[in-house]
Amino acid sequence: MKIDIISAVPELLESPFEHSIMKRAAEKSLLHVAVHDLRKYGIGKHHKIDDYQYGGGAGMVMCIEPILKCIDFIVSDGQPDEIIYLTPDGEMYNQHMANQLSLKNHIVLICGHYKGIDERLREHLVTKEISIGSYVLSGGELAAAVLVDSIGRLLPGVLNDETSALFDSFQDGMLAPPVYTRPANYNGWKVPEVLLSGNDAKIEAWREEQALQRTRERRPDLLSD
Ligand code: ADE
Repeated sequence: MKIDIISAVPELLESPFEHSIMKRAAEKSLLHVAVHDLRKYGIGKHHKIDDYQYGGGAGMVMCIEPILKCIDFIVSDGQPDEIIYLTPDGEMYNQHMANQLSLKNHIVLICGHYKGIDERLREHLVTKEISIGSYVLSGGELAAAVLVDSIGRLLPGVLNDETSALFDSFQDGMLAPPVYTRPANYNGWKVPEVLLSGNDAKIEAWREEQALQRTRERRPDLLSD
């Protein structure tokens, strides 16, 4: 899978994909992430990428032309399946969307800054608008990193059996059950007996019950979905 990210501050995305699971995905050539510096496509000798908003008001708006030029460059390597704009007024991101996006071959992520991008790009270019939560970030870069990570780990071959995404929270519409490791008794803090019993059926039933209880308490909305 290929993910192109268009950013006015590419430095923000220098390290998130160079460690741990994302690094492994790149090394196995399962995921290729390319970060494009929008300023390279800026207008005039100052490489301008933003301008005042029509009608007045505080805050700059990101111009059409640099983004289209960057998209032209990306498209020369193949037409993307989705061009996604990260914005607080987009569709709320969730595991189901991550699953759907992980089935695509090529997506482009546009990171907004300042007041955002010119609305005409949203009308004519962007195919999906995504928010990662009801709060405002300084730019779309951290949101883009969240998408890449959540999508990348779903690609077949990225996780091994032990860390399989099938057992993640949300994957079956429920939160994950609690987990424990050695020692079995840490100064009186004890691991639930059932997990030490060796009885696989009992352990499985306990985990299901715990997952259900946790979901009921913390995210009842998942159950009503
Ligand atoms: N850009 C700024 N805030 C954002 C958010 N909450 N989600 C996605 N992109 C954003």
